Amino acid sequence: MKVVIFGAKGQLGRDLTKILSQKGGVEVFAFGKDQVDITDKKRVSEILNEIKPNFIFNAAAWNDVDGAENPANSEKVFQLNAFAPFHISLVANKIGSKFINVSTDYVFDGEKRSPYEENDEPNPLSIYALSKLLGELLVKTFCQRYIIVRSGGLYGIGGSPMFGRTRGNFPEKVLDALKSGNQMKVVYDVFSAPTYTQDLARKMIEITFEGFEGLVHIMQNGIISWFEFARLIAKHSGFSDRLIQPVSRRELETIAKRPMFSVLRNSILEKCGKNDMMEIEPALCKYLKERGII
Ligand SMILES: NC(=O)c1ccc[n+]([C@@H]2O[C@H](COP(=O)([O-])OP(=O)(O)OC[C@H]3O[C@@H](n4cnc5c(N)ncnc54)[C@H](OP(=O)(O)O)[C@@H]3O)[C@@H](O)[C@H]2O)c1
Repeated sequence: MKVVIFGAKGQLGRDLTKILSQKGGVEVFAFGKDQVDITDKKRVSEILNEIKPNFIFNAAAWNDVDGAENPANSEKVFQLNAFAPFHISLVANKIGSKFINVSTDYVFDGEKRSPYEENDEPNPLSIYALSKLLGELLVKTFCQRYIIVRSGGLYGIGGSPMFGRTRGNFPEKVLDALKSGNQMKVVYDVFSAPTYTQDLARKMIEITFEGFEGLVHIMQNGIISWFEFARLIAKHSGFSDRLIQPVSRRELETIAKRPMFSVLRNSILEKCGKNDMMEIEPALCKYLKERGII
């Protein structure tokens, strides 16, 4: 069994690589951006034709949601989030691979105010979300064997200082503020189910190897505001939460529009009896343990 991973040095990419490398009988070919730029069609074709993997995981993406609104970045955003997965789909068809691509909770507008299921209608509010939705449509239309995984609010060890990441992730931003004694304003009226990439990667690999195909939601179970999530980070890291200030979305304007409610329901996993994703709080604790904080 051969598996290729693109974007292998990101949060999800690192966890996919680690878990797959521990699996018996699997040969893992993991490529960071420095080894394979997925917008380089020639390089992607060469690598895939040479390896002929059973499965191709794509964890590479343009993830700068606000930066995607800058027209100077539009072409790059769509190349990376839509046309690169399109090209991988075409090569996957030729060599008989299954393609696993990752999309986002942000394809929804948040108006539903209850967890989104796989068959709910997307309505992207931002350029980033539009590019990811176009990626979904291209993969769905052109790829013969695919899995599209929607998730959101990702945090993983690959986004921590342990790997020298400067962009970080939400728990790291909260920890930085708490450690330096700076106040942090966090929205109390925006809801998600922040998801630990280790738990996500585990589930993605499980369903891939079991033969699942199609669109699937995989998020941590539960619903939480970002403010409450920040308080949990403080609580479990042994800090007082007095530095975390609740603010409304209206008070904390961002360049890109984001859904106020982007919790995904793992409906398909539930129907198959496979929704063993962790609840939000234990998943966070597992991350903080991996970080050596608790
Ligand atoms: N982060 C979230 O909250 C979130 C939410 C919903 C969905 N998702 C989706 O989940 C997936 C994984 O996200 P993540 O949080 O693990 O992202 P991440 O940590 O930002 O990792 C993405 C990786 O892709 C690499 N990359 C960027 N451009 C590339 C290119 N042209 N060719 C190859 N690699 C490239 C990045 O390298 P550099 O860092 O060197 O640029 C980075 O290592 C993505 O599809 C993302 O859109 C993420």
